[in-house]
Amino acid sequence: MTFEQAQAKCKEYGQEHVLKYFEELTEQQQLALLAQIDATDMSILEACHKKEDIAKKGVITPLAAMELDEIEANRECFTATGIEAIRAGKVGAVLLAGGMGTRLGSDNPKGMYNVGITRELYIFECLINNLMDVVKQADAWIHLFVMTSDKNHEATVSFLKEKNFFGYREEYVHFFMQEMAAATDYNGKIYMESKYQMSTSPNGNGGWFVSMKNNGLLDLIHEEGIEWLNVFAVDNVLQRIADPCFVGATIQKNCVVGSKVVRKAAPDEKVGVMCLEDGKPSIVEYYELTEELMNAKDEKGDPAYNFGVILNYLFKEDELEQMMASNMPLHIVEKKIPYINDKAELIKPEEPNGYKFEGLVLDMIHQLDSCLPFEVVRSKEFAPIKNKTGVDSVESARKLLEENGVQL
Ligand code: UTP
Repeated sequence: MTFEQAQAKCKEYGQEHVLKYFEELTEQQQLALLAQIDATDMSILEACHKKEDIAKKGVITPLAAMELDEIEANRECFTATGIEAIRAGKVGAVLLAGGMGTRLGSDNPKGMYNVGITRELYIFECLINNLMDVVKQADAWIHLFVMTSDKNHEATVSFLKEKNFFGYREEYVHFFMQEMAAATDYNGKIYMESKYQMSTSPNGNGGWFVSMKNNGLLDLIHEEGIEWLNVFAVDNVLQRIADPCFVGATIQKNCVVGSKVVRKAAPDEKVGVMCLEDGKPSIVEYYELTEELMNAKDEKGDPAYNFGVILNYLFKEDELEQMMASNMPLHIVEKKIPYINDKAELIKPEEPNGYKFEGLVLDMIHQLDSCLPFEVVRSKEFAPIKNKTGVDSVESARKLLEENGVQL
């Protein structure tokens, strides 16, 4: 892209300030900035002026979950179906590890966090150990796709290599990087991180499938005959991955998505809950749940919106390919964004100072026709690490790991 083209693009979106220091940059820096402007989708930034429209939901109605008693009654049969699919190489796993983990506040990728006490036990290691249980049970290796971002790719890859993938077979591990999005102030103006770099952050976990495609991984998926992708977050150390019972239940119920859910601890618990929105599966965030919905009851007299998502979804791969062309909603999230001030000094704010633009994996669910919410026991499968202490923290996850017999 030439300077004139960059100038025209920035003008179109009211972002001319990005070129403010262009004259004083070295040639290499100029080229870097032009390339970044070329690669940046500035059209999405205008969304911050229409935040309210984006947040609008359709008509919400309940979506029944498959509950524990039904799962127990059919466990053997579901598991047999799941194991058969895994043995046939039809199931892949996708680890979402591109996030910044700002709440945990470690400079390293979140997966490198050591949750051990008397020994080293890394988050990545916990997840791989959990996946290995299924590899052993099925006696078949499962392709593991690891999404990283510009900010943590090198560190993630070198750490896992150095640790020999914690015993996982290297040829079954595939890394891919997600895309970045520009970050803005509250008026939608892109922040600069230096005189020649716009501030960016990973574009949310909803872009994982598009990023897999952009990184050429769909060829591998087709060659290997992978039909199902189990997507999961890096931060839940009790995560069951490629769980044969879950896979089998989703297949037997003819659903194109399965979603692991936990029974809410209280009606106002801060988790997104499964529902139908305009008749299609969806997730309503806790802050969107009105008093009326919170107190609504199903025919058994139980709360109608009682099952929270834990970011563990099983997607039918061919459905995702069809969905790719459709536009996913954007989420505008307030975050702390490092930027340079008028004197070109780098400021690292203590409080949120602007917007990040993210696509979320949960929005993919709403594009699809059928979803099986599959209940799991919270104390056995849900130990998220978002913070250092308190709720959903290293502390709470350690306690849960110990309760589940993991030596720390
Ligand atoms: P979170 O919503 O907890 O975000 O991600 P985060 O960036 O990791 O942490 P905070 O909010 O800054 O503290 C949920 C999951 O989605 C992944 C994360 O790595 C985590 O597994 N994720 C998030 C991505 O892979 N890419 C993203 O752009 C955002």
